[in-house]
Amino acid sequence: MLRLVLAALAVVALGSGPASAQAYPNRPVTLIVPFAAGGPTDIIARIVGEHMARTLGQQIVVENVAGAGGTTGITRGAQAKPDGYTIMMGHMGTHGAAPALYPRLRYDPTKDFEPIGLAAGTPILIVGRKAFPPNTLKDLITYLQTNQAKVNQAHAGVGSVSHTTCTMLQSQLKVKSTLVAYRGTGPALNDLVGGQVDYMCDQIVNLVEQIKAGNIRAYAIATPERSPALPDVPTTKEAGLPQYQVSAWNALFAPKDTPKEIVARLNDALDKALDDAATRKRLLDLGGVIPDKAGRTSAWLGNFVKAEVDRWTPILKAAGAVAE
Ligand code: MLT
Repeated sequence: MLRLVLAALAVVALGSGPASAQAYPNRPVTLIVPFAAGGPTDIIARIVGEHMARTLGQQIVVENVAGAGGTTGITRGAQAKPDGYTIMMGHMGTHGAAPALYPRLRYDPTKDFEPIGLAAGTPILIVGRKAFPPNTLKDLITYLQTNQAKVNQAHAGVGSVSHTTCTMLQSQLKVKSTLVAYRGTGPALNDLVGGQVDYMCDQIVNLVEQIKAGNIRAYAIATPERSPALPDVPTTKEAGLPQYQVSAWNALFAPKDTPKEIVARLNDALDKALDDAATRKRLLDLGGVIPDKAGRTSAWLGNFVKAEVDRWTPILKAAGAVAE
């Protein structure tokens, strides 16, 4: 009889796992987007979040927490309770460039998170306002070198993708434009369309619609090949600046010590979103690059973040990028 009871207990123990993980999620999940609504990080978060919510059976509520190039929102996420009910969309800026730019950064991208998975790669484009005098990338290079601080460059805060990738461009061209900071490149794009700022380096998913509508100029895309979403936009190599090659990425993270079973549930929901035909179409139509299966694991993301911090630190230090 005792053996039967012990066997029954063992089955219960094996099958239960932490009770929280078994029931997860039993209420809505907050997804922190560390930039203003409408920008690339927000766009990707809402696209993948919509399908993840279906898989998880609970709402995913996006909370835009902007400031300090995305580090304000990511700090909030890093300090959240590790129960799976607060996750965040980080990216190449918050989890790659930030340590080089913020000496007193209140999180370590390589230690203070449970990586969930990569959501989308985002090629970078150099874009300008519609009436900006330069017609080609070569004209733009000359114009920036001639006009220097008279030219305004929009970005989403020190350490953001739009800031780091245009810092890289200016370092290569040996120019210094006047920087205009926004709480995200959603609002920045509004001013570019309105003609209030001159140019920007931004992630493709934010730009495709405005470029197709002819509301802004697209000088080049900084990837080896043209994007299928923008077949008429030349690569930087074709346009005469082959050394300017840069792409960004957006990825989901949970606070450190979030239970592994919960991280696995979230990774599975993200994986299913990236396999869903309608979700893929939305990301691809905006020029997003969908990671293959090998690039979707939590382990892969953890290693990738370490490599990105190591990659961006010397680039930004060489560019003399402004620390906080
Ligand atoms: C950035 O890093 O520039 C951000 O992704 C912009 C944004 O998402 O608003």
